[in-house]
Amino acid sequence: MAATALREHWSSRFAFLMAAIGSAVGLGNIWRFPFIAGENGGGAFVLIYLVTTALIALPILIAEIMVGRMGGQSPVNSIYSLVRTHNKSKLWVWMGIGGTVGAFIVLSYYSVIGGWALNYTTIALGTGFDGLTGESSGALFSGMISAPVSLMLWHTLFMGINIIIVMGGLHKGIERAVVFLMPLLFLLLLFMVSHAIGTEGFSAAWTFLFEPDFSKVTSKTYLVAIGQGFFSVSIALGAMMMYGSYLDKSTSIPQSAVIIAIADTAVALLAGLAIFPLVFTFNLAPAEGPGLVFVTVPIAFGEMENGYLLGVAFFLLLSVAAITSAISLLAPAVAWAEEKYGATRRKIALIIGGSAWILGIASVLSFSDWSEFYPLGFFGLYEGKTIFDTFDFSVTSFVQPMVGIMMALFVGWSLSREVVLDALNITEGENRVLWVSVWLILLRFLVPIAIVGIFVRALWPNLL
Ligand code: PFF
Repeated sequence: MAATALREHWSSRFAFLMAAIGSAVGLGNIWRFPFIAGENGGGAFVLIYLVTTALIALPILIAEIMVGRMGGQSPVNSIYSLVRTHNKSKLWVWMGIGGTVGAFIVLSYYSVIGGWALNYTTIALGTGFDGLTGESSGALFSGMISAPVSLMLWHTLFMGINIIIVMGGLHKGIERAVVFLMPLLFLLLLFMVSHAIGTEGFSAAWTFLFEPDFSKVTSKTYLVAIGQGFFSVSIALGAMMMYGSYLDKSTSIPQSAVIIAIADTAVALLAGLAIFPLVFTFNLAPAEGPGLVFVTVPIAFGEMENGYLLGVAFFLLLSVAAITSAISLLAPAVAWAEEKYGATRRKIALIIGGSAWILGIASVLSFSDWSEFYPLGFFGLYEGKTIFDTFDFSVTSFVQPMVGIMMALFVGWSLSREVVLDALNITEGENRVLWVSVWLILLRFLVPIAIVGIFVRALWPNLL
């Protein structure tokens, strides 16, 4: 096990923030958030998302970064060493294991969708989306996902980029990538939004995103919002614990976590403001589900002036966002294996990334040859779910809530207030202590209750 004293640290707070925001901002913001908002009533969903992210996801984010910094190792070993130092049950280690395995599973299919984004970037660069109609755009997308060999190539390329970055280690791999890619991502996004502001559909998009229509809200809306918040802010899969483990003691964790959550939410909203104006300008449907970004939006690129440039910018943006998230999904397992086997990081990144690649092939085939194979279909809950759906559903409905609830209980109830204050570098009597108390109350009560709600909904979908 690596000694904490030898732990590498981020070169700067900026590097840490870019890596953490890079992890948070991903397919979840640009691909998933707009269509989930579209399907769940627009503005009302956005409002609920803001509240649940602030009250539920953010407190866990703070706890996770803190636990990572306290342990100073991979998520599994960080928790292992914390329970030993503080004399707690070994069962807590399951949150490290669950998160790391969950991240590995998400990585396997995340890479497949990342591959779609890379593929669409090259289509945009080549012929653009000129002349696409609703029908031909649908055909382009279904043609892509039903061709396993080419999907596999894109999946390979995406995973390969990811492995190479993680092989480089903290400074020469992750930091170097995020410090370049994240500013690029912000520029691309600003370019897209500033263009969208000038379109006819902008005010309709604004109304759609920000004018709440509560008639569409049900209890399910809250739970969908919580689940989306977990995924989007990258909690409960070890990633933020991992990045926290490289953080030096002088950096304020609550402040950093607030910056990460705000940046993540801002990108999701800006992605909505980049996409929906195009959708409304060309009278397309805003609630198209997962096809929104890959089927609907390209039609708009094909019809508009500057569509070529915007199409390239958009899919490059999506690819960059996906890569900076994927590296944080690979890092926890790689760090654990490095500590356990002492082999070189290069070899381990290759073996673990390669294994996630192999697992990803099952997701690739879920869209073609195995599209009617429902591995757990005999359970009502998994009826009609392909391997890809099964992975996604299992991690987001079970693994993330389980790890999230354990994290809230561990920091809220199991660790003492003194230990927590010390870990945050805050002394009793400072003004900031008030915020710590609020945070602890959320972790102790609101967060666990809300997460139980996610479980109940996953198990008995018709109950809530
Ligand atoms: N936050 C990423 C997204 O929104 O796409 C996905 C993700 C990355 C989730 C890393 C969890 C994680 F640990």
